[in-house]
Amino acid sequence: MSKKGSEFVCQSCGAVYAKWQGKCDACGEWNSIIEEKKGGDGFSNISTQKKGKMIDFVSLSGEEKAINRIQTGIKELDRVAGGGLVPGSVILVGGDPGIGKSTLLLQVSASVSNLDGNPECYYISGEEAIDQVRIRAKRLKLEQSPVHLASATEIKDIIATLEKSKASVVIIDSIQTMYLDEVESTPGSVAQVRACAYELIKLAKKKGFVLFLVGHVTKQGSIAGPRVLEHMVDTVLYFEGERGHHFRILRAVKNRYGATDEIGVFEMQDQGLMEVENPSALFLAERQGNISGSCVFAGIEGSRPVLVEIQALVCPTSYASPKRAVVGWDSNRLSMVLAVLEARCGMNLSSQDIYLNIAGGLKISEPAADLAVAMAVISSMTNKPLPSDTVIFGEIGLSGEIRAVSQPNSRLKEANKLGFKSAILPANIGAKEKKTNRVDLAIHEIGNVQRLINWFS
Ligand code: TYD
Ligand code: MG
Repeated sequence: MSKKGSEFVCQSCGAVYAKWQGKCDACGEWNSIIEEKKGGDGFSNISTQKKGKMIDFVSLSGEEKAINRIQTGIKELDRVAGGGLVPGSVILVGGDPGIGKSTLLLQVSASVSNLDGNPECYYISGEEAIDQVRIRAKRLKLEQSPVHLASATEIKDIIATLEKSKASVVIIDSIQTMYLDEVESTPGSVAQVRACAYELIKLAKKKGFVLFLVGHVTKQGSIAGPRVLEHMVDTVLYFEGERGHHFRILRAVKNRYGATDEIGVFEMQDQGLMEVENPSALFLAERQGNISGSCVFAGIEGSRPVLVEIQALVCPTSYASPKRAVVGWDSNRLSMVLAVLEARCGMNLSSQDIYLNIAGGLKISEPAADLAVAMAVISSMTNKPLPSDTVIFGEIGLSGEIRAVSQPNSRLKEANKLGFKSAILPANIGAKEKKTNRVDLAIHEIGNVQRLINWFS
């Protein structure tokens, strides 16, 4: 049983229990429940003595205040944030250790501090000593930027200092290292993270500065400890990338001030993160033409078209049940495409191992990649290469029909820009799309998967 004044809190989802148990009923996590003191989190000690005062209701229409967004000078970040940083907003940046969060935010703070009028930027590191950050700044050639740097973990001190400042941007690296005296648990626990974030967010709203919180990611890929944190902030950005690949993707998963499907692409180089303005060129850089099992998918990430190479390898299996391995795409989606090819085109894939890879390490979630995947698979199976100057997009339905996808024209324009000569796409693209000016590409429309086979015969 809990001691008087204490409770048991799941460190993974924040669920509260009266006594300890091995598994959290709410999120299913094992060994995540620890004892915490009640009321230390800044939420539970609401006084019941004081009477509330009346709140005013207003109509839905009214003058909205124009938001003066801060353009950081790092365009990829600005776009993901919804067109610049909103003063008073709180941005949580999550990502695996070593992916480049500290590097990105140091570059952001330096860039903002060099803007007109030198807005005040505070970089507070709880993970690294001052010297370590200075070494990184030197490596990035940013050591002359007027950033205010400190190494601190005590939230009270940080709040007292920021209270007196004219901060425009504040970076806390990371929220898991921050510590508030009143809360009797270790830094990184749900109670600490929640209380520290709460205090900082309150101050950011009051003073109107942009607050970046760096958050670690657990093995499962969510921001460590508290899901709660994601609810408290305005924007959640994930910084992702594959080990061994040099490019990094900044993805918005929640944004109160912009779209959430936007991505920013960076390349990690010796002098830090470089913006990649033309991701398609990067993703296609190592492509070799005229190889079977490879094709180029014209995708859309957020508001931007991105061309990527899809590679499939089909080979006879030596297992009882054939292997299906997918990198960068949804494996259920692959099973569906394969099932359609088997059922509608009479292909026999049950004795074949199938490997699918999105080259370069990008993760695609669009169903529009179905057609490209199907063509890569058939191309590998028949050992016939597709023309290397062709892009493909289209969704496949269960009855084998090829369905229209969004924004065909932006996809085609991007392909045109990169020198592609032809495109394979769904036949039933809307009449409106047909009328609008098509680019200078040979267009091959395909209505259903049976016709795909003809391509290779
Ligand atoms: P870092 O920003 O410390 O990652 P995080 O804060 O997400 O843990 O990034 C560290 C990695 O980035 C490290 O493995 C070295 C690499 N790196 C470069 O390749 N080039 C650079 O200019 C810098 C500063 C780091
Ligand atoms: Mg770091």
